[in-house]
Amino acid sequence: MSNILCIGAGYVGGPTMAMISKYCPEHTVTVVDINQERIDSWNSDDLPIYEPGLLEVVQQTRGRNLFFHTDIAGAITDADIIFVSVNTPTKMFGEGAGKAADLQYWEKTARDILQNCSKPEVIVVEKSTLPVRTAEAMARILESGHSSTKFSVVSNPEFLAEGTAIEDLANPDRVLIGGEENENGRKAAETVAELYAHWVPRDRLLLTSVWSSELSKLVANAMLAQRISSVNSISALCERTEADITEVSRAIGMDTRIGAKFLQASIGFGGSCFRKDILHLSYLCEYYGLPEVADYWASVVRINEWQTERFFQNILQQLFNTLAGKTITLLGFAFKQNTGDTRDSPAIPLCEKLVGENARVRIHDPKALENARVDLKHLNADISFVEDVYEAVEGAHALALVTQWAEYRELDYERIFKVMAEPAFIFDGRNHLDHAKLFEIGFNVFPLGKTPFKHI
Ligand code: UDX
Ligand code: UDX
Repeated sequence: MSNILCIGAGYVGGPTMAMISKYCPEHTVTVVDINQERIDSWNSDDLPIYEPGLLEVVQQTRGRNLFFHTDIAGAITDADIIFVSVNTPTKMFGEGAGKAADLQYWEKTARDILQNCSKPEVIVVEKSTLPVRTAEAMARILESGHSSTKFSVVSNPEFLAEGTAIEDLANPDRVLIGGEENENGRKAAETVAELYAHWVPRDRLLLTSVWSSELSKLVANAMLAQRISSVNSISALCERTEADITEVSRAIGMDTRIGAKFLQASIGFGGSCFRKDILHLSYLCEYYGLPEVADYWASVVRINEWQTERFFQNILQQLFNTLAGKTITLLGFAFKQNTGDTRDSPAIPLCEKLVGENARVRIHDPKALENARVDLKHLNADISFVEDVYEAVEGAHALALVTQWAEYRELDYERIFKVMAEPAFIFDGRNHLDHAKLFEIGFNVFPLGKTPFKHI
């Protein structure tokens, strides 16, 4: 029976701890956060994040062996295993600005642990994605005090994707656990592995060195993002030729060496991880004197930004090179479907570009309107946030589909066509809709990486 603590009740900490509490009923799992409002939400049925299946798990275990509160110091005192899942945004100042990770919260957490721990042995588990070698820095901070506690630092990066977090946690491809290469380190890694072994088959628990584990997380995200940028770059070529990106993706994905996943052309990838992790990786390569490697990975981010720019340029061009006073409705704002998360969503730069042309922007999203408001509050422009999708499209000159919510396929487009300004345009940033049918209704349809369907 251990006291398991998680510092940081976010997208990663919350769902992960909910699952550990579910499958390890003999352990007590506590999640703390500096944000009182967030903790209050975790203690209600209106959870701070939308994630299919999460509420059911939380309801099952909350108050039994899962607890949420803000007494960080008190929780550290009782903890045997401490997961650190605080955010590590990209640093926006000083050395490495715009590229390196901002480690201030992470270091503060390390110092809180050192100051408040009381058990003779404590395992600190790095869950936040961090630059390689931060576990070593964490260990140095923990060893710097006069604490009688023996610490082990374990790296256990999270691979869950938002929108499918519960499924990914329940059935992970692998769980990566990096331990220090000494007896104490191996024992600590085994203790963490033991938790996951409650529901994950042993052959999917991968024990590695700390550095390999940290680097693997960055590389996994960089490789996934690289596939999207590769396909997006080819979508541009398809638009100049007669090739169709969906056919190309399908054809290459059937090669088992390539595989079918993450080959969907899009307006650009978003989310809290991809851009940030690639920039970390690139910065790391630069730091270690590998500018060519740094530039190779940085180009994945450049193509991603270019793809969003290309999408915007197409809207501008097709709408006769003027957007001033025209209404553009965004279908979706979240960075992907089934989440309210908007961090790094391509919708943000798209809106900035649209209002830069004095367009009027209307935004619809079933889960992300609240976050969208916060993301766009710096823009002094004609932007509205509309809960009813049919109201959002009324009088619009163009629709821009940003997020592939299933409901957007089910809309009554005949009804929508009737209330839009003519000629009506749809720019499908996810190739999510039935283009031929929309064209039949009367829309001018602009998919990605395919020949457009034009009446004009
Ligand atoms: C975070 C990191 O962004 C990501 O790199 C890592 O892989 C996992 O942890 P996420 O859970 O999505 O991802 O972040 P977020 O939802 O922002 O949650 C972090 C939480 O930590 C926030 O609720 C924040 O209030 C809390 N926090 C932050 C603390 O409790 N203490 C701090 O000092 C800083
Ligand atoms: C990602 C990783 O998948 C996960 O392992 C890691 O822990 C965190 O980062 P997440 O960002 O939640 O997860 O979502 P993911 O499904 O990977 O999508 C990331 C972005 O890529 C989204 O904007 C998505 O729409 C986009 N995407 C994905 C594409 O544009 N095309 C694709 O084919 C797949």
